[in-house]
Amino acid sequence: MVVTKKKERDEEIENLEENESAVVGEDPVISKLMELPGVGEATASKLVEHGYRTYESLAVANPNELATITGLPVTLSQKIISAARAQLKFTIKTAYELEQEMKEIKRITTGSKSLDKLLGGGVETRSATEFFGEFGAGKTQIAFQLSVNVQLPQEKGGLEGSTLFIDTEGTFVPARIRSMAEALGLNPEKTLQNIFWIRALNSDHQIAIVEGAKDFIQSHNVKLIVVDSVTSLFRSEYPGRENLAVRQQKLNMHLHSLLRLAEVYNLAVVVTNQVMATPDMFYGDPTRAVGGNIIGHAPNNRVYLRKSKGQKRIARLVDSSYLEPGEVVFEITPEGVRDPQD
Ligand code: GTP
Ligand code: MG
Repeated sequence: MVVTKKKERDEEIENLEENESAVVGEDPVISKLMELPGVGEATASKLVEHGYRTYESLAVANPNELATITGLPVTLSQKIISAARAQLKFTIKTAYELEQEMKEIKRITTGSKSLDKLLGGGVETRSATEFFGEFGAGKTQIAFQLSVNVQLPQEKGGLEGSTLFIDTEGTFVPARIRSMAEALGLNPEKTLQNIFWIRALNSDHQIAIVEGAKDFIQSHNVKLIVVDSVTSLFRSEYPGRENLAVRQQKLNMHLHSLLRLAEVYNLAVVVTNQVMATPDMFYGDPTRAVGGNIIGHAPNNRVYLRKSKGQKRIARLVDSSYLEPGEVVFEITPEGVRDPQD
């Protein structure tokens, strides 16, 4: 007994020595945060305590959120966020560099010419596209169609790449992929083999899958990452207004990691987000729909989907920084996503 206790104590002392810097207030994470103007030790500890350990996590936060979560004043939160953004020097590029990068952007056809046109030619690489709308609006069907279409040769609107499909709701249907592939004259087995499916069990798992996807993306030529749905696990695990800030912060960071993969590997990210229709939705801003503001502004393009007659669906582009807002009609046919026949 005594021996064990001594051993335990020795281990404890060893651990203390290893973490000595933390004990005397020289935690490298804290020190790094303290380099930001206006951040003293108390503030830095508060940030760390609430999960803000890096400049990136602060740079993607919004001031009200940060203030609510940490209890810091909004003005200070704003100052910290601006400072973190300024520290991330990689955001400054020459216009020439930007032009070169934009030339690398490629597009995946949705299967509908009008929907492609709305998106500036299809779903883009190097960015994230969000499809949001109520149940049955066609979010998953679009995600399936893109998972098939990304495999097409470039002249047919694909990228000759594979898909990493992160399924949070368990609504993936291989048989549907098979019929979409057959409709395009693709080998169905080959098409199914180029879609890598993983079920995310909870929001931390979902985050971890994305954080750990780097090597897989490279070795499997992944050109499309789907997260269907990106919000559902976060919603069920962080319900209600009281959890809104934490939920938002986690989601923002998750989307930020997805965007980073999109940029580094020149791939497309597609996320879905279920929102409930509200009676005043068609007059007001649909992004203000119940739960609709959950994602904030991380995705580059947001497409609001709603049901119309029969298999017809209406897609409206909202919140794009560079595309014209607009609305188009498409259909979900037995073959997949298509232009309306009439
Ligand atoms: P939630 O995930 O519930 O939020 O909905 P969602 O927006 O993902 O809806 P989804 O993409 O699953 O669209 C469902 C609609 O697509 C259905 O109501 C059908 O109209 C259509 N659909 C789904 N599967 C098939 C199919 O195999 N054949 C045909 N013709 N239509 C289908
Ligand atoms: Mg769905």
